[in-house]
This record gives sequence, structure tokens and C-alpha cells, in this order.
Amino acid sequence: MSHKKIAILGAGPSGLAQLRAFEAARKAGVENLPEIVCYEKQNAIGGMWNYNWRTGLDKNGEPVHGSMYRYLWSNGPKECLEFADYSFEEHFGAPIPSYPPREVLRDYIMGRLEKQDINKYIRFECPVRWVTFDDETKKFTVTVMDHKKGEQETNEFDHVIVATGHFSTPNMPYFDGLEHYTGRVLHAHDFRDALEFEGQDILLIGSSYSAEDIGTQCYKYGTKSVTISYRTQPLGYEWPDGISEKPLVTHFEEDTAFFSDGTSQKFDAVIMCTGYLFHFPFLPDELRLQTHNCLYPANLYKGIFWQPNPQLIYLGMQDQYFTFNMFDAQAWYARDVILGKIELPSLEERQKDEQQWLERHENLTDADSEIDFQASYIRDLYDATDYPEFEVEKQGEIFKQWKRDKKKGIMTFREKSYRSTLTGTLAPELPKPWLNIMDDSLEHFLNITLEKKSRSA
Ligand SMILES: Cc1cc2nc3c(=O)[nH]c(=O)nc-3n(C[C@H](O)[C@H](O)[C@H](O)COP(=O)(O)OP(=O)(O)OC[C@H]3O[C@@H](n4cnc5c(N)ncnc54)[C@H](O)[C@@H]3O)c2cc1C
Ligand SMILES: NC(=O)c1ccc[n+]([C@@H]2O[C@H](COP(=O)([O-])OP(=O)(O)OC[C@H]3O[C@@H](n4cnc5c(N)ncnc54)[C@H](OP(=O)(O)O)[C@@H]3O)[C@@H](O)[C@H]2O)c1
Repeated sequence: MSHKKIAILGAGPSGLAQLRAFEAARKAGVENLPEIVCYEKQNAIGGMWNYNWRTGLDKNGEPVHGSMYRYLWSNGPKECLEFADYSFEEHFGAPIPSYPPREVLRDYIMGRLEKQDINKYIRFECPVRWVTFDDETKKFTVTVMDHKKGEQETNEFDHVIVATGHFSTPNMPYFDGLEHYTGRVLHAHDFRDALEFEGQDILLIGSSYSAEDIGTQCYKYGTKSVTISYRTQPLGYEWPDGISEKPLVTHFEEDTAFFSDGTSQKFDAVIMCTGYLFHFPFLPDELRLQTHNCLYPANLYKGIFWQPNPQLIYLGMQDQYFTFNMFDAQAWYARDVILGKIELPSLEERQKDEQQWLERHENLTDADSEIDFQASYIRDLYDATDYPEFEVEKQGEIFKQWKRDKKKGIMTFREKSYRSTLTGTLAPELPKPWLNIMDDSLEHFLNITLEKKSRSA
């Protein structure tokens, strides 16, 4: 019997989860595994976690994927994103605080892959250019640009797994007068170093995670004032002096922004924290997911299989409370369908199932119900596979506590500790207030956190 061929598009956490899922099957002695190729635009694995100092275009002229910035720390507790088959404690050899900086999380993601020989599947600097499906042969044709060779290449596959992320292409709104505004205008996607705004008055437009995180980070690194302008509702935290919220901007004149409450203020820079577009320039309309950032995009059975053609699989397309363990649950499920261990029901059944989830999704009323929804979605997936149990509902409770902790102190919530559902260990406290830890490198973070532990031992 000939092997199936599958293409994974993207080697970020979602694509890596898929590679890891097949490796787990191989180690468990499963035979007849498919032939896998993973095409990655960048020259390294890790996706968003592969920090990129570049903005605009990369060295090959491709749009830079990275939206992460220099001093980024996890905005959710690490206890809610632990891989069920690889705990933080196992990776670092000791417990670490609940909110690690970017480099520490990256190290953890890489750690799980260290003993897996997965690089052999990945074709770096190979952005996917175009994908088609032939209804007669039931195969996909995938064309990529191999920048290392300087030539395009086309191959056929039985399955295509789209894992290219959805927080990379800026949603950039227009406000009257922006073309004459005299300060700098950028999107959160291009924000890198908060020190650039030291001593400045800055305006952030948008009121979600990017706005709150870039705002608090700029405050930490010496920005004079941060104003956050919301369209629907304010973030509503108790801000320190120096951060405030305003309703939406109506227009700009020279160096000044005008707001819908009739007030105005001069700003040195405007950062659009207005979210991202789902952007798949390599997919024709009949295969292209069209959605906005939400917990259950339509036209995906189990949140992964394209309707009506389940040979096309999407990973990580949901808005994300849960991240790494959700990608794992999706990847394990997708793997078992590809291997024939899970049989897909008829299109009608799949649509019925999808409809039920979409109805539940429509009735979500607040963050707690959203967290429960995503937890039960993940449970539904991993219960059907051999992915290890990780008590996703308990992690959901940690997320609810996280929400409450943020309400109590948006500048201090990263000092809270939570208990791992895998190891049962309560995370140690951050040794200093987050606001005072200016060096957030892996080395410094481990030095101060593990040092404190050995002092108190
Ligand atoms: C600013 C920011 C901060 C975040 N902070 C956190 C956090 O603290 N905790 C957390 O859990 N999550 C966080 N996230 C969410 C983050 O998106 C996920 O953690 C995770 O990176 C998603 O993985 P992914 O593989 O789905 O997508 P990505 O990480 O975006 O990876 C997609 C990969 O696909 C590749 N690719 C794209 N287009 C092509 C193409 N045409 N051809 C080939 N390859 C392509 C990209 O180069 C990239 O490597 C954050 C996101 C952002 C934007
Ligand atoms: N430290 C971290 O870990 C960290 C930091 C930053 C981001 N992230 C992650 O990055 C992801 C994306 O977050 P995000 O905040 O960039 O996007 P997002 O959650 O999709 O939010 C987009 C925001 O932009 C607003 N918006 C959109 N169009 C607008 C317009 N025309 N005018 C005014 N406002 C507009 C939306 O307002 P409405 O409410 O009115 O729609 C919303 O507040 C999240 O998963 C988040 O967790 C993590």
C-alpha cells in the first residue's frame, strides 16, 4: 500500500504539534505513517515565538511573520498552556513562576522537540505560493518558492494542513487626517522595542490584549503617557497615573488626535492595536477559511476539518485562551483521522455537529463561559485520542482566576502563582515585581527565579 503524502504549512506551535503527533505515533510503533513535508517561510521553527527584529519584509522579500516584541512576557499563566506530555518542571528541572518572558516560553517549546528528529521534515525558507485541489484525483497540488534554491517547486499531497497562524497580517484602519498626522503611525505587528517611546506621549487604538500589553510595557520602560482609545468598550482596569482610556478617535489634525467625547490631545506616535486579518494568499476561494478572530470559526468540523473537503485541515484558527495544548489536541485528532483510527462521519453529520457548536458559541455571554466553551471543545478532541489527560477544566478555572487577578491589578497580576495540573506543584513567586524586572532574558529570569528557590530551600 502506498503511503499517504501530507503537507504541513507552517512550523509554528501548531505545525510543530502536528509533527510531534506523528512522531508520537511512530514511537508507539504505528506503521504505514504518511510521508510528511512541512513548508516554512522563515529560516527557523517556532512561528511567532521565533522573535524577529525585522519589520516589513524579510531577506527574501516575504512579509515578516513575527508580531512579538522585545520585552514580551506571557499574558496568561503558563499552567494553562502546558503540553500534557512535557511539563515545565521537566524542562527546567525545577518549578518556575507562572508568567515567564518570551525567551523562556520559547525555550520550553523547543525543549519538547529536542529529542525528536523533526527538522528532517521541514523545508525552511519555502513560503507556500498556491494550493489547488483536483476533484478527480482527490489530490492537492502545492506550489512553494524555495528561496534557498531560487526556484519554485510543485508537489502533490493527499492532505494539506494549514498552520500558518492568524496574528501576523495587520488589520489597519483609517481615520480622517492620518495622512497629514505629523507623528509616527505603526501597527502592533511592527512594534518591537518599548524604549523607542521613552519620554513620549503615545496613543494606542484598540482595546484588547495588544493594547493592554503594549500600553503597560511602554509604561514600564518610561513612556511619558499612554492613551488607549476604544471602539466598543474600554478595558476598564485601574490604571496607574500615566495610562488612561478614551472613546474612539474621530480624526487627526497635524500632531493632534480628536476623540468622540469632544476632547483632543497631541501625540508623538500612534500604535494601532487593532488586531489581525485571516490572510491566506496561497488559497483559492473554495478552500479559503474566511472568518474573524473568534472561538469557533464556521466551516470547520471539530474546528479543524474544512467543510465540505476534510482532506484540508486547519490548525490553531480559533481565538486563543488555550494555546499549545489546544494545538496538540487538534493535531492528535487530525493525525488519527489521517491514520484512519478515527472515521469521519458523513458531511451531513459533520454539519450538524458544527451547527451545535456554533449555536453554543453564539450564546456565550462572558469570559467565564468562553473559557468553559474552549475547554469543552478541547476535551471533545483529546478524549478521542491517546493524548495524555491534562484536566483542561481545571486549567479553565485557572484562566478564570487569571481574569480576576488582572481586574485586581493589571500592573501586578504577573506576580501571582498557580498550581500545575500536571505535576501538582504550586509555582514559586516572582522574586521581584514585574515592573522592576527590566532584564527579561532567559538567563536572567532563570538566575533570579531559581536562585531564590535555592536560597529558600
Ligand atoms: C504579540 C503576540 C503575543 C502572544 N503571546 C502569547 C502568549 O503569551 N501565550 C500564548 O500562549 N500565546 C501567545 N500568542 C498567541 C500565538 O499566536 C500562539 O502562541 C502561537 O504562536 C500560534 O501558533 P501557530 O503555529 O498557530 O501560528 P504562528 O506561531 O503564527 O506560526 C505560523 C507559522 O507559519 C509560517 N507561515 C506563514 N505563512 C506561510 C506560508 N505562506 N508558507 C510557509 N509558512 C508560512 C510562519 O512563518 C510561522 O512560522 C501571542 C500572539 C501574539 C501575536
Ligand atoms: N503578552 C502577550 O502574551 C500578548 C500581547 C499582545 C497580544 N497577544 C495575543 O495576540 C493576539 C491578538 O490580540 P490583539 O489585541 O492584537 O487582537 P484582538 O484580540 O483581535 O483585538 C483587536 C482589537 O482591535 C479593535 N479594533 C479592530 N478594528 C478597529 C477599528 N477599526 N477601530 C478601533 N478599534 C478596532 C477591536 O475592538 P472591538 O472590541 O471594538 O472589536 C479589539 O479591541 C491575542 O491572542 C493575544 O493573546 C499576547
